Amino acid sequence: MNQPKRYTVTAALPYVNGYKHIGHLAGAYLPADIYVRMLRSRGEDVVFICGSDELGTAITMQAHKENMTPQELVNKYHEISKDSFEKLGISFDIYHRTTAPIHFETAQEFFLNLYNKGLFEEKITDQYFDASIQQFLADRYIKGTCPSCGSENAYGDQCEQCGKSLDPTDLINPISVTTGQKPVLKKTKNLYLALDKYEPFLKKWLLEGKKGKWKPNTYGQSKSWIDAGLHPRSMTRDGKWGVPVPLDEYKENILYVWFDAPIGYISATKQWAIDNKKSWEPYWKDKDTKLVHFVGKDNIVFHCIIFPIMLEMHGEYILPEDVPANEFLNLEGQKMSTSRNWSLEMYEYLQDFPNNIDELRYCLIANMPENKDSDFSWKDFQTKNNSELVNNAGNFINRVFVLLHKYYNGVVPQAKGCSELELFVKNQREKITAAIENYKFREALFEVMQVTDRGNKLLTEKEPWKLYKTDPEATAIVLYDCLQLIANWTLLIEPFLPNTSKLMLEKLNIKEDLNWSQISRQDLLKPNDIISEPFHLFSRIEDAVIDNQIAKLEQKTKKVMEPKANEINVESKSNITFDDFVKNDLVVGTILESENVEKSNKLLKFKVDIGTETRTILSGVALHFKAEEMIGKQVLVLKNLAPRKIMGIESQGMILFAESEGKLLIMSPHQTAANGSSVN
Ligand code: 2FM
Ligand code: ZN
Repeated sequence: MNQPKRYTVTAALPYVNGYKHIGHLAGAYLPADIYVRMLRSRGEDVVFICGSDELGTAITMQAHKENMTPQELVNKYHEISKDSFEKLGISFDIYHRTTAPIHFETAQEFFLNLYNKGLFEEKITDQYFDASIQQFLADRYIKGTCPSCGSENAYGDQCEQCGKSLDPTDLINPISVTTGQKPVLKKTKNLYLALDKYEPFLKKWLLEGKKGKWKPNTYGQSKSWIDAGLHPRSMTRDGKWGVPVPLDEYKENILYVWFDAPIGYISATKQWAIDNKKSWEPYWKDKDTKLVHFVGKDNIVFHCIIFPIMLEMHGEYILPEDVPANEFLNLEGQKMSTSRNWSLEMYEYLQDFPNNIDELRYCLIANMPENKDSDFSWKDFQTKNNSELVNNAGNFINRVFVLLHKYYNGVVPQAKGCSELELFVKNQREKITAAIENYKFREALFEVMQVTDRGNKLLTEKEPWKLYKTDPEATAIVLYDCLQLIANWTLLIEPFLPNTSKLMLEKLNIKEDLNWSQISRQDLLKPNDIISEPFHLFSRIEDAVIDNQIAKLEQKTKKVMEPKANEINVESKSNITFDDFVKNDLVVGTILESENVEKSNKLLKFKVDIGTETRTILSGVALHFKAEEMIGKQVLVLKNLAPRKIMGIESQGMILFAESEGKLLIMSPHQTAANGSSVN
């Protein structure tokens, strides 16, 4: 495409089914923000779109877990996500929601456009239905035994144990996740889009048109999907938490969340246009608009294949020019996982480091997973901060300010700009622009830091603190040059570290509205301008702070790896039958031995006499009871709980406790009973 007239830039609408971590930030939001900030500085017409993806199964499942309605859940996490993004300086023009009425209207209109063209195929399939709640079950709502590895906790779409992708009907002994009931197969009717018929379109537009243009990971993954052959995909679902299908015949159905979510970009643009008294249509329909979707690698198929097919079917919309997908960010060498609590949530970082936003941005950009998975570690965060931000940029700026105040009372001296430096900065600007345009943000940041690096070298070479004694005029030139480097760096760093740039503009007293094209000028500061007192732009991060974060992460993950206090779940549970209850083999036992488990502050290890034998049982109750006070106590034991290993020790059953206002109470018979007495 020739030089675009305008840009529509989107960042994946995050599901608001929980906190978002720094991997999400590095994956889509930070790169998109840098890209957009550079475009704005260049004076381009750009809209930056994002918002919460609030519909679908991901939301209803979490709402069930948190004992909330889906609406309550999305209200909670929408606010948290929005607030975190704002504090982290992600400069969306709008952060919208897919529960907004304008989104429902837009998605339904889009759907009807395709429907009226006859593009949907009706299919009747057998789907699991939970009769006790009169609902069809989405794939994630069905659990059972994996036919491949035998794990008893496989979901209807995938076994998390062996990774095999499944159909709900593949599961052995399926049960409904919400109620525990056995679901029945029932016929249901849904509307499918024949993605396979669009293979010729994808071959031309994507495989031929984007070859060598898109990032290899985006192109490669899209190509594998196309090569493997596409299949019709159901775009309506049986369910309630979604955009209703606007057809009488399907009024019990909702739109598939991946059908409505990308349309969320369009509805958000509409809302932004209303708020800003603009027209939304050029941003989605004009051929001179460049549409770019920033996503993580798990979203590639939806943005490169399914959404473009939808746009093509509709016919009035432009197609994405690019989908710069990033890979994943690991944490301390391990994949981030919310269920294992191995993650650094954005809000957590903000709580602990409210004044170190740009330090995190710097470290995440320098480690951005652009072509392969990368890693965030606290030690590396410390090193990058202390040696690159403090020692390179911060130190240079501080030294120049100190010298300027010492020799010139903080006033910019008389001198003429150096043409060699002008050329150097111009060259840097071109390299940085090209790197950002090609989504090479690590490289771009490196080139920005070359500017202060050059300044440091200039100081080392000229030694103005010595020079001043013999040649004050030459000293004036060195400081003048250094100040111009600092001013140029201030503009170049803005897309990456916006807070730093803002602070520097204040310290340099620059009031002029400067933009990207003026970078390289050697008169950004003029003789007689007054510069603020010397200060430290960045501060060192000490070992104790880092050690504390590492300990905190380990603590957090331990919490979920160890059983909770006797696995008590205070949420109310759904009904079970008498037959279910009698499956529990509950007996009275006596604790013979009790000791703490090494390296755990929560676990106690018991030897329990249950009449027929002595069992080893672990309980997460060490914060409530001293090991020795448990010896001799009679307890109730769930004898037929499947044995499992915790911290290398096999636990062969479970001791029951009651939880009362945060305190644990041992459940014992009110009179001494024979060990092994059954409880029912
Ligand atoms: O992966 C996710 O979090 C999805 N909610 C992304 C949706 S992007 C777009 F299609 F809205
Ligand atoms: Zn399996």
